[in-house]
Amino acid sequence: MELTITPLHSDPRFAAEVNGLNLAAGVDDDVIKAIELALDKHGVLILRNQHLDPGQQIDFTKRFGPLEYGFNKMLNKSESRLKHIEIADISNVTDDGKIADRNHRRIVNNMANQLWHSDVSFQNPPARFSMLYSVLNPSWGGETEFADMRAAYDDLEPRLKQHIAELQAEHFSLHSRFVLGDTQYTQDQIDAIPKARWPLVRIHPGSGRPLLFIGAHASHVVDMPVAEGRVLLTDLLEQATQPAHVYRHQWQTGDFVIWDNRAVLHRGRRYDLAERRELRRTTTMDVGQDHPK
Ligand code: OGA
Ligand code: MN
Repeated sequence: MELTITPLHSDPRFAAEVNGLNLAAGVDDDVIKAIELALDKHGVLILRNQHLDPGQQIDFTKRFGPLEYGFNKMLNKSESRLKHIEIADISNVTDDGKIADRNHRRIVNNMANQLWHSDVSFQNPPARFSMLYSVLNPSWGGETEFADMRAAYDDLEPRLKQHIAELQAEHFSLHSRFVLGDTQYTQDQIDAIPKARWPLVRIHPGSGRPLLFIGAHASHVVDMPVAEGRVLLTDLLEQATQPAHVYRHQWQTGDFVIWDNRAVLHRGRRYDLAERRELRRTTTMDVGQDHPK
């Protein structure tokens, strides 16, 4: 099965649009395989004009592996506005369907999505693929940006590559929230997900290319003074997310974007919180991989 693929970035190995697929109509296993191969190469795939209800999105996502329930699990939410615990409600809308006040937990909690990150990198297993489906967009802002961590690694100066070659970072579920001053969590929530440690440099299984594994969940570098490690992480993140490595996705209703959290970082962009923004995310777990400690 050959997909119709149009590259969307000056590096043709990163970010591409896939045409001719209607996910709601159901797709064969060879299409799933072809999507996986395209993800291995490009890291981010865009499918336009999809019409998916939550159940269809969940069923499609499950074809790529077991689902990751993310913060729904930690916050002990048995039911979301969307009535499916498998779906992360990436919106500024409350459970009764109104635009949330800017102090609302949903707004405060989703704010960390505007920091560069790899989904649930604080957990073992972390996320493999995330899929974001656009339902409604504000009139300005609210784009999602993706940065290719393989190209970012390639571009590091040799001395820095050498310096980080054996280093690991510790990732903590609430680090990005604490950085933003969002500290209203119980001890049980703080302890709910054991911290995870990952090498700063990993090999992307799909492409065999080395990459930088960093982002907002990385709290410090193991066996390095916290301040020195945070400066290093900040510096790496700054270099890795230069415009040359970034694809910015301008959402249209019906867009379905799939990315490989093992290859790219992403972040949402600011928008007017008084306007509705509604996306639905499903995520698969990165099981069946060797995750070095
Ligand atoms: C996410 C996320 C960014 C955005 O859903 O995982 O980071 O643009 N979203 O909302
Ligand atoms: Mn995310």
